[in-house]
Amino acid sequence: MYYIGIDLGTSAVKLLLMQGDGQIANIVSREYPIAFPHPGWSEQNPADWWDAVCAGIPELLNGFDASQVAGIGAGGQMHGLVVLDAQDKVIRPCILWNDGRTQKQVEYLNNVIGKENLSKYTANIAFAGFTAPKLLWMRDTEPENFAKISKIMLPKDYINYKLTGVHCTDYSDASGMLLLDVQHKCWSKEMLDICGVSETQVPKLFESWEPVGTLTAEAAAKLGLPEGVKVCAGAGDNAAAAVGCGAVGNGKCNISLGTSGTVFITSSTFGVDKQNALHSFDHADGGYHLMGCILSAASCNKWWMEDILNTQDFGKEQEPITAEKLGANDVYYLPYLMGERSPHNDPAARGSFIGLRMDSTRADMTQAVLEGVAFAIKDCVEIARAQGVEIASSTLCGGGAKSPLWREIMANILGIPLALPQTEQGPGYGGAMLAAVACGEYATVQECADKLIKIKSVTEPDPALVKKYAARYELWHKLYPALKPLYAEMEALQ
Ligand code: XUL
Repeated sequence: MYYIGIDLGTSAVKLLLMQGDGQIANIVSREYPIAFPHPGWSEQNPADWWDAVCAGIPELLNGFDASQVAGIGAGGQMHGLVVLDAQDKVIRPCILWNDGRTQKQVEYLNNVIGKENLSKYTANIAFAGFTAPKLLWMRDTEPENFAKISKIMLPKDYINYKLTGVHCTDYSDASGMLLLDVQHKCWSKEMLDICGVSETQVPKLFESWEPVGTLTAEAAAKLGLPEGVKVCAGAGDNAAAAVGCGAVGNGKCNISLGTSGTVFITSSTFGVDKQNALHSFDHADGGYHLMGCILSAASCNKWWMEDILNTQDFGKEQEPITAEKLGANDVYYLPYLMGERSPHNDPAARGSFIGLRMDSTRADMTQAVLEGVAFAIKDCVEIARAQGVEIASSTLCGGGAKSPLWREIMANILGIPLALPQTEQGPGYGGAMLAAVACGEYATVQECADKLIKIKSVTEPDPALVKKYAARYELWHKLYPALKPLYAEMEALQ
């Protein structure tokens, strides 16, 4: 049988056709636009996601026997607020995970409701990208739209709704709404009250591998698939990526270098980071995880290459960065192009180059971008380590993982071996794996991961380089606190 994995990303949907034995039969990608209607805001039209899925799946199936498709599973960009009216029509564009408009609402939640209460209700505090502050923003700013809300859901839940007609979500993705009691896996009545919504407005909760329904006749006809195809609840893209890289069970780590950068640490038991700097969420395997998320990771490199250097040839730009340049760069970069989530929780933070001199080169700046992202990932890793969490190695996925140079920089800045799974299709592969479990091809997510995940290569750190980078990190780490008041002044002048 075949299983379709949907990776509903920020720049594109990536669709993957997986055989029951884990072989990838086909991959198709369809891009869609992102709108920045105001500095620091980001929105997308859910209809664009659905159109991309409808155009992509028939292309994915071209040359394959569609009657052999048994299941579909999606991993989606997290935290986005999708609101439907009583006729199930989208009320306004989705406010995305990297949107920073809710600073006022985040301050209200963290300071007036209080971090302790939030942590008690949900296991987390408020961050600008989370869904609950966006609901409060809508209530404050667009009361006419807020009054129309019949259903609240997350991006991949909208796709699952279009596929099956069912309003559903899964625990891993729901964790990022700040409406879920993560420990007890139910909606938090307190948080629903605080946001002025009722339990009828939030979707039904499922485990990621549970089937939520089968394709509607309309969706089946549109996609060229049989009506009996099962759709599972799926997961947030990071949980799906973790599954797709084998980070299931206890004590595993997966790092993703996608549009965002994340450190995902699995745990079979519930736990919170004492400062709430890391998110404490449910995992798609039925357990839990801690996660740090930096808002701009591979997107920094894309911005630097495409928008600033005006090139598509990323590899050529990295050629002058030879071995002796590693650990010796005097140019530093802070990757806060969309503000920052973990660990600073500061939508006003800005991207910055520091340390430029007359002899600084284009390649030094390219290197600084790769290193700055790795340092920001290290910030998240160090917070976990300070809590006693051991991170001795990790898998790596996402577009950034394709660069051998970036893998080397990451392994030496983090001081751990980084394993590259045979497929870099983290969320899409994880989605297909969840669908295979939903259809009974594998008994559990763990069994599926044990059987399917293979490691292609491992990048080992070099102790001399680790030492050099540790000194650079110490300096880099002082830059944000020094610049923070100036970022706030820039924001005030805007
Ligand atoms: C995680 C997060 C991002 C998005 C990217 O908390 O906001 O990783 O899920 O799609």
